[in-house]
Amino acid sequence: MCGIVGMIGSRPVSPLLLDGLRRLEYRGYDSAGIATLTNGVIDIRRATGKLDQLAQRLVDQPLAGHVGIGHTRWATHGKPTEANAHPHATAKVAVVHNGIIENYRALRTELEAKGHAFASETDSETIAHLITDYLDQGLTPQQATAASLKRLEGAFALGIVFVGHNDLLIGARRGSPLAIGFGDGEAYLGSDALALAPLTNRIAYLEEGDWAELYAGKIIIHDAADKIVDRKIHITALSGAMIGKGQYRHFMLKEIFEQPAVIGDTLSALTTPDDALAMPPLPFDWKDVPRVTIVGCGTACYAGVVAKYWFEQLARLPVEVDIASEFRYREAPMQAGGVTIAVSQSGETADTLAALHYAKSQGQKILAVVNVPQSSIARLADVTVPTMAGPEIGVASTKAFTTQLTVLLCLALTAAQARGAIDAARAKAILHALREIPAQINAVLRDEHHIQELAHHLADARDVLYLGRGLLYPIAMEGSLKLKEISYIHAEGYPAGELKHGPIALIDENMPVVVLAPGGALYEKTASNIQEVAARGGKVIMISDKSGIAHVGAKTFWNIALPETDAAVAPLLYSVPVQLLAYYTAIAKGTDVDQPRNLAKSVTVE
Ligand code: AGP
Repeated sequence: MCGIVGMIGSRPVSPLLLDGLRRLEYRGYDSAGIATLTNGVIDIRRATGKLDQLAQRLVDQPLAGHVGIGHTRWATHGKPTEANAHPHATAKVAVVHNGIIENYRALRTELEAKGHAFASETDSETIAHLITDYLDQGLTPQQATAASLKRLEGAFALGIVFVGHNDLLIGARRGSPLAIGFGDGEAYLGSDALALAPLTNRIAYLEEGDWAELYAGKIIIHDAADKIVDRKIHITALSGAMIGKGQYRHFMLKEIFEQPAVIGDTLSALTTPDDALAMPPLPFDWKDVPRVTIVGCGTACYAGVVAKYWFEQLARLPVEVDIASEFRYREAPMQAGGVTIAVSQSGETADTLAALHYAKSQGQKILAVVNVPQSSIARLADVTVPTMAGPEIGVASTKAFTTQLTVLLCLALTAAQARGAIDAARAKAILHALREIPAQINAVLRDEHHIQELAHHLADARDVLYLGRGLLYPIAMEGSLKLKEISYIHAEGYPAGELKHGPIALIDENMPVVVLAPGGALYEKTASNIQEVAARGGKVIMISDKSGIAHVGAKTFWNIALPETDAAVAPLLYSVPVQLLAYYTAIAKGTDVDQPRNLAKSVTVE
């Protein structure tokens, strides 16, 4: 999604804004631009494609100025052309915008009738003209901003500069996140703290409806009613250095390999070394909870599906899990005393946030499982149990997913114990198995070359089917999502038992079928499905333990042997080979792994 940076100080801002935009690249974008104020005019450079294009433009035509705004655009309204790239400007203001202005058509018609000439197809340009209209009526920049914000419907984070006001930068938020950075004689704004990491570690997060005046030595924050307010300044732990890929070719591979460490970190925060839980206090008692609702999008939602099995099997607690974009409009009746769990890496996903607002309005307690502790979802929740994955830069979520699973399993075990649904020995055994997962993942990672070799066979496939049962069904969906998003191969994840009800018609000698078949109660059932696929000439890629592979009784095309593990924790271990398979297939196809086409890391618009 779009990324925003802004800066005001006494040094030239253009190179710093470009650096800030590079830190936002991971969010996904298709054009970029920077505007500064120089000699009483707005000077803009914009370019389509990657930031290197913009950087080259800045080399050819450098930008001076001590106040400026920058933007990476992920196209919503209008194609990714230079004319649609931000900043959008009139003779009086320049604006960068993340979000969607829902009433832009009505506003544009009104402003065009007054003589405003638009240069782009975007909803964002409307904001520049609206503010200009108020300036034309004699309002100050602050008054014009406040008046304009009241007319805008939809979601936005904004950065605005004003001709004739070299000492002023304004930021605003509603629905989309905006961080404000405090420097020495400088002030900054950014879509997240990562964008500002080399400039400052002192960050305030604007609340819903806030807007802020940034001056070189001072920041004034207003709430939605324009009242001056204080917002807490957080000291972020993000490193000033660019978060790098280290020895790895891509962030995604680095993040796959970080999993043993970050799962270990997450577990250390939630358990004791002698296999007991050490969870943070929760504002409800699991004994009294009649129903859990889990919402999330994409990978985060699949983590929720795994959690449904855990909560229901271990804690005997009914769980509904839904895709947040469906849940938010479904008007689901919600039971009094219920808990809604939001799962999100970024904590900023617009649909998940909206689903939570609905759940809150229905009297639910909100528990957030997020990776960014200061995110909008974390701030809306009654309680947050953070994943300790660290910044995830690759668009394809990997370490965030497995740390989400870690937190969710610990929550399910806590609920199981509180409800007396699990005996102490079984709880201890599961926690022990969970503590072994980092070492077992390391063993899988050591064997990555075997998966890399398989990927060459997969790269020519048109479609791939992923099958799993029970706890492995959501991992089949997650594996297929990973393959789709970075290799652009069509893939589907199916519950293995559904094979006969339709998808088996797809099986022929060209169809690779990845089957996740760990040992445990459902192994024999899945092994039967493997035989059905093999009997029809399908290319079975079997992921199981040594004994599962030895006993399958069917001809498979490829076997990936994983360490034996307790069936309850298998989703964590089995996630890793499907991540590696997607990664190496994408490498074989030569796609842009960390920033796949059309995708955004953090989906902050509907
Ligand atoms: C995962 O690989 C995807 N890029 C995507 O499905 C992602 O998980 C989803 O957009 C949710 O994001 P969130 O966890 O930040 O809320």
